[in-house]
Amino acid sequence: MIAPPKNSEWAKAYYTTGGSFWSGEENAESGRKRAQTIARLAGPDRRAVLEIQSGHGGAALATAQAGYDVTALDFAPIQSENARRLVNQAAPGRLTVVAEDQHTVDLGQRFDVVACWDGFGIGDDEDNLRLLHRIANDWLAPGGIAILDIFCPLPWAAAHGRDQTLDRNHSTHAYRQNRRMWFDPITAVAQDEWCPLSDEDGRRLEDLRITQFIRCYFPADFVRLASSAGLQTSLMEIDGAPLSSDRLREAWHYLVVLERGK
Ligand SMILES: C[S@@+](CC[C@H](N)C(=O)[O-])C[C@H]1O[C@@H](n2cnc3c(N)ncnc32)[C@H](O)[C@@H]1O
Repeated sequence: MIAPPKNSEWAKAYYTTGGSFWSGEENAESGRKRAQTIARLAGPDRRAVLEIQSGHGGAALATAQAGYDVTALDFAPIQSENARRLVNQAAPGRLTVVAEDQHTVDLGQRFDVVACWDGFGIGDDEDNLRLLHRIANDWLAPGGIAILDIFCPLPWAAAHGRDQTLDRNHSTHAYRQNRRMWFDPITAVAQDEWCPLSDEDGRRLEDLRITQFIRCYFPADFVRLASSAGLQTSLMEIDGAPLSSDRLREAWHYLVVLERGK
């Protein structure tokens, strides 16, 4: 059984090392799509955005360039440094980068939108519930919304046992990699291992091997978890369309919109 390990036990080491594997890869198109999603769901009046787990900052930059005042929070050093390099391009909005732990940081400010792309579930249920409490109690301004990607169990279950060699497919990829994936149907935890390969002889560079653990949630289970943190789920969708059983079998994550319960 794969028990979901706590975020503090592995995440910083994983993303710090991973930052040097895929350093600075930015997908401008995906950033723009995320900014458009914020504009569509937040409407014209919500302008202050907190993006947690913001990685290299591509989505945060696109959101700022769409006119928002964005705070990008991520504790991984290379990712935050890359995001800082984007701050000067943020006009007409603003981009502020905070390189701290989301579980402990005091931002001293509330936000109209809290966004988390491709990242909720990096920890055990206690971590994930604590993060939802932080969104509800520390970060959301009155009338604010949270927009989160939630990892869906079924595609990870279908990937159980996958073992593949991945070539560099971007100039910033430092290595070819061996990727192995497992999924535990009891705990709904995906285990995802990346091991760089030697260019000379294809040997696994075990010293550089990293493993992430992702707690996946079926929609009904996520709604219950959010509700226990005082957050109502007002919308769930995949690529802008309502959830469907078929799409939930294929999409790596679905998107939820949360509001503080009245
Ligand atoms: C899967 S990546 C997603 C990055 C980005 N949102 C994207 O879509 O490219 C998850 C990010 O969460 C960050 N992260 C994980 N745990 C964190 C924590 N406790 N505090 C701050 N950042 C954290 C990692 O450093 C990493 O950059």
